[in-house]
Parts: sequence; C-alpha cells; structure tokens
Amino acid sequence: MKNVVIIYWSGTGNTENMATGVMEGVKSEGANVKLISVQEAKVDDVLKADAVALGCPSMGSEQLEESEMEPFIESISDAIEGKDTALFGSYGWGNGEWMTDWQERMESYGARVIEDGLIVNNEPDEEGIEKCKDLGKLLAKV
Ligand SMILES: Cc1cc2nc3c(=O)[nH]c(=O)nc-3n(C[C@H](O)[C@H](O)[C@H](O)COP(=O)(O)O)c2cc1C
Repeated sequence: MKNVVIIYWSGTGNTENMATGVMEGVKSEGANVKLISVQEAKVDDVLKADAVALGCPSMGSEQLEESEMEPFIESISDAIEGKDTALFGSYGWGNGEWMTDWQERMESYGARVIEDGLIVNNEPDEEGIEKCKDLGKLLAKV
C-alpha cells in the first residue's frame, strides 16, 4: 500500500484546513497517510514515504515561512529527489508568486511535482476543500 506523508506549516489554520482536505483525499483512495506539522517533521519522514504533500502559505513577501518551513525545505533537497510531490498553500493579497517559485525550486531538487501547486485565497471554502481532496486522491494514485 502506498505511504503518503503530508507536512505543513500554518499560522492561522487556513493551510492546516487544506492539509486535512488533502489527507481525506488520500484516505479515500485507500493509501496510508501521515499528517504532520513541520515542527515535528524529519527528513526521514520524506525518505520513508512513496509520495509527499507539502503545504505552506505565502509569508514574508511572497516567501515560505522562514523559521521552520524554509529550513525544512532546504533540508529535504536530496531526500525529495524522484518523489511524487504535491504542493499547496493559502495566500492573502498576492498573485501566487511564492507558489510558482516554490514549485520551480522543488523541481530543481528533482521532485516529481504531480501538478501545479494548489493555491487558495485565505480560508478554503467548500470548493477549495474539494480541490484539496482531489489533489490528495491524485497523489495517492500516481
Ligand atoms: C507575516 C505575513 C506575511 C504575509 N505575506 C503574504 C504575501 O506576501 N502574499 C500573500 O498573498 N499573502 C501574504 N500573507 C497572507 C497569508 O498568506 C494568508 O493570511 C494565509 O491565509 C495564511 O495561511 P495560514 O492560515 O495557513 O497561516 C502574509 C501573512 C502574514 C501573517
């Protein structure tokens, strides 16, 4: 059975809600899923997984959250190579630039990003959660 890990950072819960949606999608395809905040995550969690979902909102000025997510992403630059990877996150007022930059970065590490990073404005509504579930389903199937 496929093992999927979902690792996220969330300050006010919007990206956390997205992560829960991704988890539900993965589960609905019958795969094993581990949902963890980046504070608890280790490089080993990525190494052991068949597929990885990473979530982080747009912070700073179109950047990843700098104290926990940024160093974690740096730390998995080798571990993520060749892994099926899904990216997601919430944003406020920007144009999604943090996500396109992040996707390019993960691809430069050799991650197999399964589709363009999923972005949702502020708190995900029902449609946003459905998109998260679909992303989880896709990640469980690829
Ligand atoms: C310090 C800080 C910086 C932010 N910078 C951006 C930004 O550059 N672009 C943007 O679109 N939203 C920005 N936002 C808005 C967040 O991305 C948005 O509130 C998001 O929903 C937070 O997700 P979370 O609930 O998972 O923490 C920023 C928010 C904070 C608190």
